[in-house]
Amino acid sequence: MCSIRAMRSPESLPWHAASWQTKSAQQQPTYGDPAALERVIAELSRLPPIVVSWEVDALLERLASAQRGQAFLLQGGDCAESFADCESDRIAKQLKILLQMSLVLLHGLKKPIIRLGRMAGQYAKPRSADTETRDGVTLPSFRGDLVNRAEFTPAARAADPQLLLRGYERAALTLNFVRALVDGGFADLHHPEYWDLGFVKHSPLKDAYHGIADSISDSLDFLEGISGRAVHETTHADFYASHEGLHLLYEQAQTRFIPRQQRWYNLSTHLPWIGMRTAQLDGAHVEYFRGISNPVAVKIGAAMDSGWLQGLVTTLNPHNKPGRLTLIHRFGVKEIEQALPRAIDAVRQTGQTVLWVCDPMHGNTETSAGGFKTRRFENILGELQSAFRIHAETGSYLGGVHIELTGDDVTECTGGARGLTDGDLQRAYRSTVDPRLNHEQALELALLIAEHSQTRRADRRHAR
Ligand code: PEP
Ligand code: CO
Repeated sequence: MCSIRAMRSPESLPWHAASWQTKSAQQQPTYGDPAALERVIAELSRLPPIVVSWEVDALLERLASAQRGQAFLLQGGDCAESFADCESDRIAKQLKILLQMSLVLLHGLKKPIIRLGRMAGQYAKPRSADTETRDGVTLPSFRGDLVNRAEFTPAARAADPQLLLRGYERAALTLNFVRALVDGGFADLHHPEYWDLGFVKHSPLKDAYHGIADSISDSLDFLEGISGRAVHETTHADFYASHEGLHLLYEQAQTRFIPRQQRWYNLSTHLPWIGMRTAQLDGAHVEYFRGISNPVAVKIGAAMDSGWLQGLVTTLNPHNKPGRLTLIHRFGVKEIEQALPRAIDAVRQTGQTVLWVCDPMHGNTETSAGGFKTRRFENILGELQSAFRIHAETGSYLGGVHIELTGDDVTECTGGARGLTDGDLQRAYRSTVDPRLNHEQALELALLIAEHSQTRRADRRHAR
């Protein structure tokens, strides 16, 4: 057993934006022309930031309130964004489904919802193997549009530093459009009908969704009627961006010292997270993340023992700052029963608090009979229900969900109100990486979370 006190305390060692380079960095591409890479990183470092430090601080405050049980985090988006999908219609749809889910959650959970897109920078992917072999030919794996191209040719699979610039530009274009939509009233609670996706008209969930939208609209009218003024605070949705901070040179290039704050920030996104494959305690990612002032998250899986978890908590948040550290657990519907109580207990032993979020996607991936990477809606829902229950039973609080979804009408996950089967997967399977909930399945998940929470509240009232 590893005692917390006996663990070395890396947070006391000097940090700078490139200190991670002295550590072992997993999942980094190899570039054929280091001088070209260096030129690109220098250019990236000079470009204006995508977000600013006061927005990052505002998100940290909001996450602190979620950690206290006073708000709920909805984090969602594509497994990997692609450059080709950087289109106005797609971005608007993605924003709409997240806004719709947040409306439903607000109604069911009776708490402010923090909206955090997996977007505007989610372009690099960790891979289980460095290479891929087809018909006897071995090439580097595709690592996302930020690194190389999906086509199976030596030229396409070579890591190209110019893609770092293209990714940065697309991230900026995406967030610029999202900000304009949100600021322009796209997310005004008074007009929930603006949030409609065409599909809602034909969906079996139509009535449930419209009932909630109308009820929120009526409540706003009522509040404004009795107070005589607009409820500004609640009528305007804010929106934040997050991505996996995987490609460390890219993240380093956007890491700035803000003299007014006397702190370092990663200004490529509001919240970067460490993926499960790069969360080694003595690794480069943990080293980089410990020095930035953003709120950060780490994905945690069943293979992480208590000492590892405790090391992450004390290294990434040595001063126990509220809102600073989110742990996103992704155990899978079976493993969660054993793994989550252990994880909650391990963190409790550190005396620190974190924001707990459930990712019910990444522990529930399987291969269909037809060879598609898929996830079953019932397993996703099952893991989420277990997460709510286990946190409540152990006196902890589940403060958010992390979902892979799309505003498009894809068939990548089975189940849901329309009962998609393995046979439906080939109809509209578009993901090149992980299977996402389509708009209808995502909305259904939000409706079910909201419904369960209402039932739990009613049970508690009954028990009193
Ligand atoms: C992901 O979020 O797409 C991912 C790769 O997750 P994890 O790090 O949890 O495996
Ligand atoms: Co994924």
